[in-house]
Amino acid sequence: MVRQNGDEMNIWKSTYMYNTDAWKFISEAEDRSVDVIITDPPYDASLDMNELRRICKGHIIVFCAPENQFFKPDEFAFWIKTPSTKNFSKHIGRFVEMILIERHGDTFNTDLHWSNYTGVYNDHLLRQVHPFQKPAALMERLVSIYSDPGDLVFDPFMGSGTTLIAAQKLGRQILGCEIKGKSVSLTYPAVIHWEME
Ligand SMILES: C[S@@+](CC[C@H](N)C(=O)[O-])C[C@H]1O[C@@H](n2cnc3c(N)ncnc32)[C@H](O)[C@@H]1O
Repeated sequence: MVRQNGDEMNIWKSTYMYNTDAWKFISEAEDRSVDVIITDPPYDASLDMNELRRICKGHIIVFCAPENQFFKPDEFAFWIKTPSTKNFSKHIGRFVEMILIERHGDTFNTDLHWSNYTGVYNDHLLRQVHPFQKPAALMERLVSIYSDPGDLVFDPFMGSGTTLIAAQKLGRQILGCEIKGKSVSLTYPAVIHWEME
């Protein structure tokens, strides 16, 4: 259960996205209350891994820049950035980005179509609404492989909500936080419920 604005809510049976600081939200969440965390924090964030491990039963999957790896993972994945997702404003455009995977439990869906394991040709942004938006195909791949239908997928740094849109499409329950209210308007059809503080 999560306590928000004095109300108690059962996050297991809900589709919720919160316009709030993820760490404040997490501090109020019960132990092992989400099944998997898939998230894409700002590159310079610092993550409280003890808190993420406390609330999560399953895998913790985090995008990062190679020079700021938030934790030592059980495995690394990489994705090849397509031109539609490159950002040249501060650095020469990155061609790959790292994905840190800390494994908890056995969920690893190996019976998927091969296209679920490789995204070189599909990882495009069709419509960009957030400066750091991830391609839907990439997030669908991670959700398919590392969670099961019905699982609660939590993205504490949801931005425009790509992770959660993918998760919802694939029959998972969803939960997310985003500190910038402006992103609310970007997270169009997937937002069933948005709590403003
Ligand atoms: C790299 S972006 C995520 C983009 C997302 N993957 C997408 O596809 O749109 C990281 C997001 O985390 C948000 N953020 C940063 N610190 C936060 C915090 N403490 N709590 C919640 N959200 C935060 C930022 O506002 C930003 O939108």
